[in-house]
Amino acid sequence: MSSLKVALLGFGTVGSGVYQTVQSHQQRLQSLLGRKVEIAGVLIKNTNKKREIDSHIVVSSDIEDILNIPDLDVVIEAIVGVEPGYTYISKAIEKGLHVITANKELIAHRGDVLRDKAKKHQVRIEFEAAVAGGIPVISTLKHLLRVNQVQRIEAILNGTSNYILTHIRETQSSFGDSLRLAQDNGYAEADPSNDIDGWDAFYKLMVLSDLLFRKQPKWEQVIHQGIRHITLEDIIAAESIGCKIKHVATIERIGEHVQVKVEPVLLSGSHPLYSVEGVENAVIVSGDIVGNVKLEGPGAGALPTASAIIEDLVNLYHFTEKELPKDEISYVTGLQLEEQSWF
Ligand code: NDP
Ligand code: HSE
Repeated sequence: MSSLKVALLGFGTVGSGVYQTVQSHQQRLQSLLGRKVEIAGVLIKNTNKKREIDSHIVVSSDIEDILNIPDLDVVIEAIVGVEPGYTYISKAIEKGLHVITANKELIAHRGDVLRDKAKKHQVRIEFEAAVAGGIPVISTLKHLLRVNQVQRIEAILNGTSNYILTHIRETQSSFGDSLRLAQDNGYAEADPSNDIDGWDAFYKLMVLSDLLFRKQPKWEQVIHQGIRHITLEDIIAAESIGCKIKHVATIERIGEHVQVKVEPVLLSGSHPLYSVEGVENAVIVSGDIVGNVKLEGPGAGALPTASAIIEDLVNLYHFTEKELPKDEISYVTGLQLEEQSWF
């Protein structure tokens, strides 16, 4: 049988993590998919950068070189920002390719348009890696909590912010030194202001809002603050009263409204997010049947993110082959069906 041909758009922390994982887990992928996964092309920006990529793979800075690779099946997008990702993914979908993306900024801005395009061209677009790194939160909401009405999500969604807050507290380091370490570890975005000003967690929360309610709040109405202004003195003061400062994203149904917040808050020791440290993320989902479910794990970094992407790849084929209902509304919880006008 021919191999499953995949192109990587982006070969930074995430793209190279996926490349490495396809190599390290080829046997397992083959047994799950019934065929070998072949990375056939890699799109990059800087053609002068030295990279460890097999010589038979097409490496180019021109998207057409990549999308014209014969018999391509899937495109994995791991570039930063809305563009050029939106244009490249649109082209891939129009060519009938399935898409997997880690790009939360793009999905928050254009997820609805891309979903419609994918539906029109009968391909799938998956984005597990876009929210909470290696934690399977999207799959849980899409496939495992469908009867439950989700009333509330409270989460730590930015690994960089949580890493910085933890590192300052544990080592009494400066904000700048802690951010540099988060960058060295590949957790922070190319422009770290997305992380420390709360935008990254905000985009992730908008992706969750779309998933749960098929709708996003008006962005200007979301309470939105990052951790840039938090000092060592603030953290010590919090500790002196038995608390920690955490960057928390919340989406909650209150009566007939939905309240959405992304902000640093003071948590006491009894709060379930208090113990979430370093680059870990955690998502507490409150369903009307199950109660509170806490998902916790690595929220950023090459391999946790590659894990989410590679699971998407396998699920893409399992679900596509089983012909899941074409109307993706079926994966959304009942909440959006009963109420459309909260925002
Ligand atoms: P990096 O900055 O490490 O890598 C970005 C890659 O995209 C680089 O290979 C770069 O090329 C390429 N690129 C940038 N601009 C262009 C362009 N115009 N055309 C072609 N290629 C381009 O980012 P990450 O790997 O960290 O993140 C990628 C995506 O994944 C982002 O959307 C991020 O939000 C998301 N994400 C990141 C996680 C993480 O832990 N880092 C976790 C989950 C999601 P070149 O190598 O030539 O510079
Ligand atoms: N910069 C992001 C974070 C990467 O720190 O959480 C994971 O999406």
